[in-house]
Amino acid sequence: MSEALHSSRPLRVVVGVAGGIAAYKACHLVRDFKERGDEVRVIPTANALNFVGAATFEALSGNPVDTGVFTRVDEVQHVRLGQEADLIVVAPATADLMARIAAGRADDLLTSTILVATCPVVLAPAMHTEMWLNPATQANVEALRQRGISVIEPAHGRLTGKDTGPGRLPEPHVIAELARTVHQTGPLVPTLAGKRVLISAGGTQENIDPVRYIGNRSSGKQGYALGDIAAQRGAEVTIVAGATDELEAPSGAEVIKVRSTREMQQAMAQRAPHADVVVMAAAVADFRPESEAETKLKKGKSDGALSTIHLAENPDILKGLVQMRKAGETAATIIGFAAETDNELENGRAKLKRKGADLLMLNSVSGGGVFGQTRNRGWLLSADGREEEIPDGTKHEVAVRIWDAIARLAQ
Ligand code: CTP
Repeated sequence: MSEALHSSRPLRVVVGVAGGIAAYKACHLVRDFKERGDEVRVIPTANALNFVGAATFEALSGNPVDTGVFTRVDEVQHVRLGQEADLIVVAPATADLMARIAAGRADDLLTSTILVATCPVVLAPAMHTEMWLNPATQANVEALRQRGISVIEPAHGRLTGKDTGPGRLPEPHVIAELARTVHQTGPLVPTLAGKRVLISAGGTQENIDPVRYIGNRSSGKQGYALGDIAAQRGAEVTIVAGATDELEAPSGAEVIKVRSTREMQQAMAQRAPHADVVVMAAAVADFRPESEAETKLKKGKSDGALSTIHLAENPDILKGLVQMRKAGETAATIIGFAAETDNELENGRAKLKRKGADLLMLNSVSGGGVFGQTRNRGWLLSADGREEEIPDGTKHEVAVRIWDAIARLAQ
């Protein structure tokens, strides 16, 4: 059983599908919800069925598929589906569909259902860059957002032809994660528009010899989730990533790969002067071998080169960033993380003071939780003394709480 399945109740999800080439990705989205135990009803537009047949959606969802309001009229489907849904996710949402929703049209089963619904509605647009950037589409997106509908920022990358740019449908698991986050925490709103956010993620690694290294179990998921939510709130996101799991870059984000603590320090210090917010979510190796062997160390050697590794202390990146701010080299708000196994609050409060950050996300990692997992919990401690317990939630939900707390820092 997946972690998410036993920690949050199954949802009744309507997956809307509009007529774009990315309609095939909706199949994976349906499977993602089904695998978590959600009840899924697919409502394609008539055009969507030019790309994927109704039989495919029926087989994947285990439910009948209709496009118009004149089938199963006795059930008044659009009213029932709209009223009963916990969550409506449309992927892909075409320019035309968003225009119709924005205009309040109800000319097929999908738009009628959306007009009836009071649950969270999440649209994942996919179209050519020109269509996305067209003022007509942008005006519709803004109108929809103002009404509390969440419009996911499209991914950047290869479109149907040879062209690249914003407009690609994010991967289905990313859409599902964001949609569930919206269901738990509220709509995506562009509160970070125009802000530049710099996030370190993952673990740093220090080479012992060409084949061995000192590292840690950080997956980078919390840092990337922070990047995802910041990008969805309109920020320009840069991630400095050490070793991470295979993670998709947040929409439009620049990702800089580093390996060692010193490489991460350099990358962060270089970019901090241009950032409005800096988050040190990385699990940083505090020590490195004094010297890196050029050839593989042999375990049988009498000099004990492998059994005794002399360590040198690494720089404290977070402290360095705080010092940069003191020296007037950056004006960024600075957020730290702490992973503690015992005396969490006491250690966290002391760490916040020692590091000089504005806010500290204190993770409780006792019992092996958090690292590599999809969920997290802990406390947010701010330098002004405010403390907030963060209940168990997905790393995206926790990311929402962290960004909300950062927004409150200024108040
Ligand atoms: N950090 C850093 N540079 C380091 C060590 C940690 O910037 N050399 C940052 C982490 O990214 C995190 C915060 O400092 O934001 C706290 O990290 P943590 O590993 O919990 O703290 P340490 O300073 O290593 O303290 P200790 O290991 O003694 O608990």
